[in-house]
Amino acid sequence: MNDKLKPIWLLDKNIHFLNHGSFGATPIVILNYQQLLRERIENEPVRFLARELEGLLDKARSQLADFLIIDADDLAFIPNATVGINTVLRSLNFEPDDEILITNHTYNACRNTAEFIAQRSQAKIIVASVPFPLDSPQQIIEAILKKVSSKTKLALLDHVTSPTALIFPIEALIRELTHRGVDTLVDGAHAPGFVSLDLRSLGATYYSANCHKWLCSPKGAAFLYVRKDKQANIRPLTISHGANSPRRERSRFRLEFDWMGTVDPTPYLCVPEAIRFMGSLLDGGWSALQMRNRELALAARHILGDTLGVAIPCPDETVGSMASIPLGKVSLSWDVLQAKLMDEFKIEVPIVPWIDGSCLVRISAQFYNRLEQYQYLAEALKQIIF
Ligand SMILES: Cc1ncc(COP(=O)(O)O)c(C=O)c1O
Repeated sequence: MNDKLKPIWLLDKNIHFLNHGSFGATPIVILNYQQLLRERIENEPVRFLARELEGLLDKARSQLADFLIIDADDLAFIPNATVGINTVLRSLNFEPDDEILITNHTYNACRNTAEFIAQRSQAKIIVASVPFPLDSPQQIIEAILKKVSSKTKLALLDHVTSPTALIFPIEALIRELTHRGVDTLVDGAHAPGFVSLDLRSLGATYYSANCHKWLCSPKGAAFLYVRKDKQANIRPLTISHGANSPRRERSRFRLEFDWMGTVDPTPYLCVPEAIRFMGSLLDGGWSALQMRNRELALAARHILGDTLGVAIPCPDETVGSMASIPLGKVSLSWDVLQAKLMDEFKIEVPIVPWIDGSCLVRISAQFYNRLEQYQYLAEALKQIIF
């Protein structure tokens, strides 16, 4: 078979898969590479895990660091972005009445973590209300900065929001918050491969993000960036051998995060291959892929807006490879609507209940998606709702 015609993903051909955003999808070549690594482990588990792994992790982390434009020593591999948010929040000490700033777009799991920590220390959660629909990114900055007080210790901010798929103006937010003495914990779950990242220039205090979404690595690969001056205070959720290691040639941060007990390390080791492979799909590399996906998402939301007669809810500059479109107040509950799209139309797409009682449909655009799929979704929604 001509190489170009070989399927790249294992995705079910009978399903219109418009939800890359939830869990990503890994190309077959990367899964094959992972399988080779697993065979290498099973060939001599002690050699691999006790003697070779450290060097292999160093190499993989250094290639990820080059992609993110950051010092590899400031990165730790973790299994997912939720673990990263938990790691930071559970490492920090808050005093009663300290304030942790989040937004009404914060991912539910991370909001739960912040609330758990706040309850434990009697700190307060302050929620900034970012409007959606949104006229300009400036409204995001204003809504968040308005909630900063002398008690704000940390702001937990999404780089790309989950329900509304907005790219927050994160550089400006970090700059303004840092200027006000507020540390920033960025939930960048979607960001790598979705936007171009330059972590060094971004200047966040902490940044947690997934490789298994838009970098398309196998599931269970993510990273936590911790600014050097904060690394001594950030301890992994699992305390293991690193805590009392006599080694001095590696930081405590590195020693603790690189061994949290026996796990399958292959998702981490596949990250460089995922970066390489996804970056090879189009002639222009990663920027061409991101641009293509973004253009598809922008076109898709116009199709949905026109077909359903709803207004485009946010400016183009806040859109990347996903877009959320308001469906208004639908007579069906969000989960029934989502199930109908799957059962009757074979469309996998998330319907998100939004805070004003309305529903949003969030589309993803990845290399395997085509414009006709969004037209089909729009017609299906029209048929079900209107
Ligand atoms: C904004 C945001 N944060 C965190 C997560 C959690 O990612 P994971 O389940 O990989 O930890 C998601 C997942 O969709 C997300 O959208």
